[in-house]
Amino acid sequence: MAILSSGDSNQGPSSSRAKSRVVDGALTQEEKSSSEDGLRPQRLDEYIGQAELKQILNIAVKAAIERGEALDHVLLYGPPGLGKTTMALVLAEELGVKCRVTSAPALERPRDIVGLLVNLQPRELLFIDEIHRLTRVAEELLYPALEDRRLDINVGKGSTARMRSLRLNPFTLVGATTKAGSLSSPLRDRFGLIQRLEFYGLDDLQKIVQRASGFMGLVLTNDASNEIARRCRGTPRIANRLLRRVRDVSIVRGKNTVIDEHLVDEALSLHSVDRIGLDASDRRFLKLLLESYNGGPVGLETIAAALGDDPNTIESVVEPFLLQLGFIQRTSRGRVVTNLGRSHLGWPDKK
Ligand code: ADE
Repeated sequence: MAILSSGDSNQGPSSSRAKSRVVDGALTQEEKSSSEDGLRPQRLDEYIGQAELKQILNIAVKAAIERGEALDHVLLYGPPGLGKTTMALVLAEELGVKCRVTSAPALERPRDIVGLLVNLQPRELLFIDEIHRLTRVAEELLYPALEDRRLDINVGKGSTARMRSLRLNPFTLVGATTKAGSLSSPLRDRFGLIQRLEFYGLDDLQKIVQRASGFMGLVLTNDASNEIARRCRGTPRIANRLLRRVRDVSIVRGKNTVIDEHLVDEALSLHSVDRIGLDASDRRFLKLLLESYNGGPVGLETIAAALGDDPNTIESVVEPFLLQLGFIQRTSRGRVVTNLGRSHLGWPDKK
């Protein structure tokens, strides 16, 4: 195996701002623009919601600092947009170390992950998004790295091939996934902390919207931020996205004063986001089941084929919120629209 690509080496002491601690980027455009707007909380005490998760991580961070050791490996799982990447960056900030950000699909060749691991400085964080998508080879390179801080690599070819073990600096892997069930158990077992991120409650979402509007220089009434909170599917990333759309309408209407719930309603209706946050793809999903399959049960593959979408996206992006609302159920025979879901779309109950 040809090994040891240079990777990106450490660039000297980091400044005190979280952004400067981020090395590399598998951040999406939206995630990048969140950081640029300064919307991303940088410390645990700025991070709104997820109270239990924060409490657990706060203790783990303080204990690691006290012991002078790397934080135990952390697995964060849950639907997209709830703040897994943000939490990894916050952890690095709390620990006073850099965070190297990547995602499993970017680690296709063995040398990609080797390059990252050998360049980690003591106690640094390595954040791997979509960790359930790691290749088998990458996973197997990770096992001894996570357990014994050892990297076993093959050098040379043919008769001169041999195995070499490299020592690694103590480090913390923060893995994120929307599909915890797809992680192999040997990988899952190597995380000391396995934490689920929950959908956010209305109060927390309203605080997040008010905080973000402050950074964007907008003034929202209480009813306006409440309206966005009710329509963002329990998800801060969506709340911030909706807020940007509201800002657009506010600018175009020349209303750069106070934003009220009527303006929010106008902006979000324009984007087909209904009163409880369902968007066009949710409605397409529910309508397909209702109109073509009398409400189900329908298998995931069939739904995906009919919608022209990928089953993974449907399962990890569209369905979690519909399940949370109680609009659908996953049964052994497929997906079923519940009476709650039927009634939201104006369909009569199924007896
Ligand atoms: N912006 C996005 N998510 C946030 C959170 N959990 N706390 C504060 N601001 C946020």
